[in-house]
Amino acid sequence: MIKLKNVSYKVMDKETGKEKYIVKDLSLDFPKNKFTIITGHNGSGKSTLIKLIMGVIQTTSGEILLGEKKINSLSVDERANLGITIAFQQPVKFKGLTVRDLLNLASKSTTNIPDACEFLAKVGLCAKDYVDRELDDRLSGGELKRIELAIALAKGGDVLLFDEPEAGIDLWSFDSLVDIFKKLKNKTIIIVSHQKKLIDSADYILLLDSTNDAIIGKKKEMLPLLNSPKCRKLGGLIND
Ligand SMILES: Nc1ncnc2c1ncn2[C@@H]1O[C@H](COP(=O)(O)OP(=O)(O)O)[C@@H](O)[C@H]1O
Ligand SMILES: [Mg+2]
Repeated sequence: MIKLKNVSYKVMDKETGKEKYIVKDLSLDFPKNKFTIITGHNGSGKSTLIKLIMGVIQTTSGEILLGEKKINSLSVDERANLGITIAFQQPVKFKGLTVRDLLNLASKSTTNIPDACEFLAKVGLCAKDYVDRELDDRLSGGELKRIELAIALAKGGDVLLFDEPEAGIDLWSFDSLVDIFKKLKNKTIIIVSHQKKLIDSADYILLLDSTNDAIIGKKKEMLPLLNSPKCRKLGGLIND
């Protein structure tokens, strides 16, 4: 579905004045309509990989394909139009903007109550309580995250990217977020996470390490590897 062919991302390191690779010669395939977790220790390039797929940053060499289409020279908007969506850590908060406004903007239509209800119900929120609410500090971290997810779903893409959805929410909200991801079918979901619960729900796991070795495989094959002493030694790889 999303294929990386010899992808590299190289930057100028300000400290040493030399070029350094953040991602080096990475080739892999994210399977279509499957739920893949990207994990690996801090600094292994997980967020960079998500940004490269979305087009927030551009590959310095190699190719990214969506199906048969080469997308690595396309802008974020062009990739969004092809159905790639990223859910940000925090939804945009503007004074006066309601949940319904944001769902309308995302779906590029006038979302009527039943539609809004459908997106909000998918993320476990009761539409009647939320459509007319403004996004402000009265919403909890868990509520904001679910609204962000509803907005991502309203965009209607086939590929959903998420970077550490566990950040900033309580355990209870996190548990229901995991259930929501599990229920999302017919989408290619790619999530960066260290959370055991999310990892256990995935179809595939991609393990990145700082030497830029990447291994992707079915969860059953990958779990023993994640639990190996070498991986454990990387520290903080999996949070229970
Ligand atoms: N533009 C950049 N310039 C220099 N270093 C960068 C840049 N972007 C990322 N890095 C470094 O690359 C490494 C990988 O970053 P990141 O993808 O954020 O890791 P992860 O999300 O796995 O923790 C980190 O050490 C980070 O500091
Ligand atoms: Mg990161």
